[in-house]
Amino acid sequence: MEKIVVRGGKKPCGRVKISGSKNAALAILPAVLLASEKVSLSNVPDIADVRTMLSILEDLGLTIRRRGRNTLEFYPSRLRGYTPPYNLVQKMRASSYLMGSLLARFGRATVPIPGGCNLGPRPIDQHLKGFTALGATCQIEHGLIKLAAEKLTGAHIYLDVVSVGATVNLMLAAVAAEGRTVLENAAKEPEIVDLANFLNAMGAVIKGAGTDVIKIDGVKNFGGVEHVIIPDRIEAGTFMITAAATGGEIVVEEVIPKHLEAVTAKLRETGAEVEVEPEQIRVHRNGPLVPSDLKTFPYPGFPTDLQPLGMVLLTAARGTSIVTENVFDGRFRHVDELKRMGAQIKVDGRTAVIDGGVPLSGAPVSATDLRAGVALLVAGLMAEGETVLSEVDHIDRGYENIEEKLASLGVQIKRLQIRDSAKMAGDPG
Ligand code: EPZ
Repeated sequence: MEKIVVRGGKKPCGRVKISGSKNAALAILPAVLLASEKVSLSNVPDIADVRTMLSILEDLGLTIRRRGRNTLEFYPSRLRGYTPPYNLVQKMRASSYLMGSLLARFGRATVPIPGGCNLGPRPIDQHLKGFTALGATCQIEHGLIKLAAEKLTGAHIYLDVVSVGATVNLMLAAVAAEGRTVLENAAKEPEIVDLANFLNAMGAVIKGAGTDVIKIDGVKNFGGVEHVIIPDRIEAGTFMITAAATGGEIVVEEVIPKHLEAVTAKLRETGAEVEVEPEQIRVHRNGPLVPSDLKTFPYPGFPTDLQPLGMVLLTAARGTSIVTENVFDGRFRHVDELKRMGAQIKVDGRTAVIDGGVPLSGAPVSATDLRAGVALLVAGLMAEGETVLSEVDHIDRGYENIEEKLASLGVQIKRLQIRDSAKMAGDPG
């Protein structure tokens, strides 16, 4: 098992090139199954979840060639079938997207009920409601979701909940349905727009991605395409908040500022300086942080994935701040770990009240999910002393080279094998 050790006290300063978007890549990769010609993807983040998805696609029979760390080529070949392997699907929630793409390709899909970060209940009722509306039958038995459709027919689907996953999944199925599908109350995340752009480049006819009404006219054939994955706005926001929380100065490069407007606005509200340029954003802080209220919402609101980071930031703002998590029911599992470091936080349902200004102290802590894990690393940078983070495989699911990127900013961070007593990076001793 591995651990990451950070030592507080050094303010991160420097530039970070942001990787491609995990959640765009995980939505686009299942769509590659539809292509009848070669597909080339670049700016694909080299992270565990992407490697898992690639293994699933190879298991289904896709031929994949890696043309560099972040560039992949896919060759259509005789696919082996429509039942991805249980052990791989179990690892992540994005595997559920195979339901939509396999339905579109084969008219059938047998997909294990997906796993993923424990953020409270994560039903897929909206996904299944949409597939049924498109003409598929749906059975759940022995942990498997069995979908079948003689023919997919366009439908008017109103999503009861704004759901990224359901919007992605139903788009993947509807592109091959006969006739028009209208998705109402659709999610508007940039990753959905990136998927729509990818599908349209393959020959799909999708209008309105990025708004809450998406119209999809089904087509029969999908050609090849070259596509560049958009930058990861959550990784960019992670480093922006790190600069404000530690009092350092970080420039995130190769970003799309439009995707980060809610984060920029909140950081300015807390007293950080944010300078926005066309493809990079500089964040630093000279004065004290101002206590603020933080509420998460679907895009373009403040992203739930940055709520743990926002909470860590607000522990350094002297006074009372309130964090409200409006997207997931159980996304405060990082609070108990932050309390080990001295944070003063009280949780009541979807609300956390932070009594900020009490300096954090380093402690052994455990990553409860991907974003909570990185939030604890950032708390360790702010804390006095050493923080040892375990369960770091959560972090590796979604951040490419996180410790190298942080070490390049001058902080003391080191990944240790459990038997290893190697010295910390940057440790003069
Ligand atoms: C996607 O998860 C992201 N994952 C999450 O990022 C992100 O936090 C989330 O969207 C919200 O932005 C990927 O893109 C792989 P939802 P998803 O469906 O699709 C409820 C990360 O760290 N809901 O938008 O699972 C659901 O319970 C991950 O990168 C239903 O009730 O999220 C939640 O309360 C974590 N029924 C709300 O909707 C459904 O059928 C939003 O979930 C589907 C969802």
